[in-house]
Amino acid sequence: MDHFLYKDGELHAEDVPLREIAASVGTPFYCYSTATLERHFRLFDEALEGTEHLVCYAMKAASNLAILKVLAAAGAGMDVVSGGEYARAKAAGVSGDKIVFSGVGKTREEMRLALTGGIRQFNVESEPEMQRLNEVALELGVKAPITVRVNPDVDAKTHAKIATGKKENKFGIPISRAREVYAVAARLQGLDVVGIDVHIGSQLTDLEPFRQAYEKVKELTLALRADGHTIKRLDLGGGLGIPYQRSNDAPPLPTDYGAVVKDVLGDLGCEIEIEPGRLIAGNAGVLVSEVVYVKEGEDRKFLILDAAMNDLIRPAMYEAYHDIVPLMEPPVGQVPEPYDVVGPVCESGDTFAKGRNMPRMNEGELVAFRSAGAYGAVMSSEYNSRPMIPEVLVKGDQFAVIRPRPSLEDMLKRDSIPQWL
Ligand code: LLP
Repeated sequence: MDHFLYKDGELHAEDVPLREIAASVGTPFYCYSTATLERHFRLFDEALEGTEHLVCYAMKAASNLAILKVLAAAGAGMDVVSGGEYARAKAAGVSGDKIVFSGVGKTREEMRLALTGGIRQFNVESEPEMQRLNEVALELGVKAPITVRVNPDVDAKTHAKIATGKKENKFGIPISRAREVYAVAARLQGLDVVGIDVHIGSQLTDLEPFRQAYEKVKELTLALRADGHTIKRLDLGGGLGIPYQRSNDAPPLPTDYGAVVKDVLGDLGCEIEIEPGRLIAGNAGVLVSEVVYVKEGEDRKFLILDAAMNDLIRPAMYEAYHDIVPLMEPPVGQVPEPYDVVGPVCESGDTFAKGRNMPRMNEGELVAFRSAGAYGAVMSSEYNSRPMIPEVLVKGDQFAVIRPRPSLEDMLKRDSIPQWL
């Protein structure tokens, strides 16, 4: 459930009509609901009640400082994958002991940043990374807490670009080699092994792959303990999917997911960490855009919006589906018409939907892309020299711009001309 609902014939974010925000900040823009962010965080937190746990929000999904502050205040830890994300977590007031550092290519500088600023654990993804982290920790005279990310070789049954738990993926070390790798880690003086990490992919709509992966993690926990390692923490990654197509998607809920976690791993006496991103932010955000033109093609109608693939790349990149709804509630009984919904960018890939049945739309009307809160703003670019679009946060009947729209001058100012030109 989210807090984007039609009230009095128009779509609201909580108690604010999106039309009012559009009038104030212009289109396109992203808008997030505080109540939805908090609710989704709480669902995970409650799903793991009864086991010691920490929900570490995967901020790659949406990393505006205001969003991070909302979640941090609710009690979230953070999963970061770069020095930049680490800096964001700290700037949002999250203490180091609630930050986990994931990612396959951590650099020396990033390791140093986290080791000096404080870190709960590094999720190490390879042996060379393990050696590098050991060196950096020894240079700094500290011990780096680590888990090793294992690749359980299970099929997450999701889009190929966001599946991570098969042996052909670049992530983690093969689970079959884990005992060997942990033996090496235990000998490195700069490292402190605290647990195991796994993450098999994103937008999973079936619990079975999670169960399979977690069974393998359980088996490994017992084997590693028998080898003499202290395994006190299990980081289970993120990945639970959301209903993008409201009319027919019903993925499992956090409580169903929590039940699997407790069922498989509940009796190991480990602290559980999870790293959800999409489920917390996805349905907590919409992208609002204006219809610039309705163009009659030879055999189809194009709805040309002022938002484009540079603002929301998911449809172009993953063939992702987003519900696109008018801000003004259509009259009951109006027969929908098929539209190709496109942006103004100069490539055919700038298509949000083909033959999408929508209420009749006219120039100047506003639409909202639902489920755009995760992997929307964070993946945007200035392609075609279209300035980044603003982000707005709503709480009850208030809204605030949490990232302003840069002016064209702001955008141009970032380039510098060499002295020979
Ligand atoms: N932990 C790790 C190590 C991850 O790699 C990811 C996502 C997450 C947690 C969070 O997964 P989530 O709960 O959000 O599914 N840009 C793509 C999604 C990429 C996901 C990358 N890793 C999209 O728009 O669908």
